Amino acid sequence: MKKSALLSVVATVFILVGSASAHEKGEVVKSGDWHLHLPLGLPADKFLIPQDNPMSKEKIELGKLLYFDKRLSIDDTLSCADCHDPKHGFTDNKPVSEGVGGTKGGRSAPTIINRAFTTTQMWDGRKASLEDQTTGPLTNPVEMKQPSDEAVVKKLAAIKGYAAKFKKVFGKEVNIEDYRKAVAAFERTVVSGNSKYDRFKAGNQKALNASEKNGLDLFEGKARCLSCHNGFNFSDEGYHNIGVGMSAENPDVGRSKISGKEDDKGAFKTPTLRDISATAPYMHDGSEKTLEDVVEFYDKGGVANPSLSPLIEKLGLTSGEQKDLVAFLKALDGEGWRNISAPKSFPK
Ligand code: HEC
Ligand code: HEC
Repeated sequence: MKKSALLSVVATVFILVGSASAHEKGEVVKSGDWHLHLPLGLPADKFLIPQDNPMSKEKIELGKLLYFDKRLSIDDTLSCADCHDPKHGFTDNKPVSEGVGGTKGGRSAPTIINRAFTTTQMWDGRKASLEDQTTGPLTNPVEMKQPSDEAVVKKLAAIKGYAAKFKKVFGKEVNIEDYRKAVAAFERTVVSGNSKYDRFKAGNQKALNASEKNGLDLFEGKARCLSCHNGFNFSDEGYHNIGVGMSAENPDVGRSKISGKEDDKGAFKTPTLRDISATAPYMHDGSEKTLEDVVEFYDKGGVANPSLSPLIEKLGLTSGEQKDLVAFLKALDGEGWRNISAPKSFPK
């Protein structure tokens, strides 16, 4: 009698310990010779890898070199990483991005974090795949300013180290399709999870302090943030007009230019809030300097305009509640991307 009771206690302890550590580890995503231990909170079954672009260690390594290489730009001054810099949560911490020669673009550079989980890229969702997105910046006159994709292919092909790497990874000369595949494969490895919030959700009651916990309750309740920033990546992947920039004379119309719908005027994609503390200033035009400013913006009910989302209303938060909400947003700082840094040397 005594013996069997003891056995069952041991078994229970074992199961508890076993399940706790499985939670802390997060899920694993696999493709070819590559696998990634996703940080806690990210679902492996939502990690999108196109059938014609499986991951491989060598491909990711090549993509990373390209991503950080300033030679992709016309005058060797600007890489993808200059606007989407790992040191700044894969953004540039500027209100709007600056291309070759310092020419300002019209929008703020969004983060590259957790892009593997979605098919809506850009503030207006005009790109569905990461592969497709990778060539836009090359020829954009306010970004890398190249005359054509062919010019980039020619430039890369003339670098012996790249010619050899494309041969090794894809079995071909340098070409634009494989450039796309390599850069997108690297971008997919930029993930973020295992924040205090994820550990709290996984059952660790102590992961959030009282202020952060209250912030979470507000986020999901009174402040109504969850109506748009929902799911594991804090985005409904939808487009909403919350009034940003709408008081300008000729406001950026955002999604309506893509969808052709009047309703979408001034609507932009709901961005992820993961690692939001690293990516100031905020919004598609960089108009909000701090998280405190953002919360105040929502508290006032955004900016009134004819297309304002019905989900945006005055919130009536106390100053203490606003502080707690900001504390919660900071508890979304995660890991997975923090160990990614520029390569030490580039192909010659
Ligand atoms: C001059 C700064 C600049 C450079 C250089 C640049 N980008 Fe961007 N990137 C931006 C801006 C600004 C946007 C948002 C544009 C928009 O939505 O209209 C953006 C959007 C993106 C997005 C969409 C992210 C999201 O959340 O929807 C991805 C992915 C991306 N860039 C990858 C790259 C890659 C890969 C390169 C290099 C080939 C690159 N960018 C070069 C500024 C830059
Ligand atoms: C109606 C949908 C909706 C609701 C509700 C909402 N958001 Fe947003 N959020 C968005 C959209 C869309 C943007 C981008 C707007 C733009 O740039 O024009 C955004 C942007 C943000 C940003 C800036 C992100 C960045 O990368 O620049 C933060 C921070 C943010 N929201 C936090 C919150 C908080 C906190 C709440 C609750 C008080 C909230 N949001 C409620 C849709 C929403």
